[in-house]
Amino acid sequence: MGMQGEFGGKVRERKYMMAKSTIGTGTGDNVPAIFSSGIVDVSFGKNVRVVEPVNLYGCAIGDNVFVGPFVEIQRGAAVGHNCKIQSHAFICELVSIGNDCFISHGAMFINDPFRTGGPAGGNRDLWQTTVIGNHVSVGTNATILPVTICDNVVIGAGAVVTKDICVPGVYAGNPARLLRRLPEGE
Ligand SMILES: CC(C)(COP(=O)(O)OP(=O)(O)OC[C@H]1O[C@@H](n2cnc3c(N)ncnc32)[C@H](O)[C@@H]1OP(=O)(O)O)[C@@H](O)C(=O)NCCC(=O)NCCS
Repeated sequence: MGMQGEFGGKVRERKYMMAKSTIGTGTGDNVPAIFSSGIVDVSFGKNVRVVEPVNLYGCAIGDNVFVGPFVEIQRGAAVGHNCKIQSHAFICELVSIGNDCFISHGAMFINDPFRTGGPAGGNRDLWQTTVIGNHVSVGTNATILPVTICDNVVIGAGAVVTKDICVPGVYAGNPARLLRRLPEGE
């Protein structure tokens, strides 16, 4: 029986057997703690499809959501209804995504902006939230820093969103800039 690890997975109690040839000069004491990814303590809506392997823990996922392989969604994160979370996306704590959103392959969210010169470590007071509206499409490999994005927005592939987006439109680049406006209801 394993215990819950900080990454959501179960800590394997059995020792990980490695051939000496795979660990170079390591000794028998150089045994890593191995965590298993999986699905732990997740609130799912109806008609959700998940392609394993994934690491989903402590999060909430709405109705009719697709989650592709190699996705991690962390504790406290929320995904609304009718969203597609494509493979390799990373949705961290303090991120909330609305309805009818498309989070493309390899899109990354950030909750620790290293504002004090490095990682906040366990000091969650330094973490910041991200709120994504409805009908937001985030392109492949985009990075979203802690921001608020309004409804009806497209984020281009590879964009880095560093500031709140309050006007519906298409945004691209690093830092992401408005390419063109979209109607409020599109
Ligand atoms: C941002 C995006 C939506 C813009 O599409 P568009 O409105 O048709 O824009 P255009 O292709 O006409 O490009 C307009 C300008 O923006 C630039 N541009 C387009 N996409 C860009 C991007 N991702 N990053 C930086 N610049 C970009 C173009 O080079 C062009 O520049 P120019 O005016 O100097 O020539 C699109 O290019 C994109 O990145 N889509 C993401 C798709 C995706 O990730 N899909 C995932 C599922 S497969």
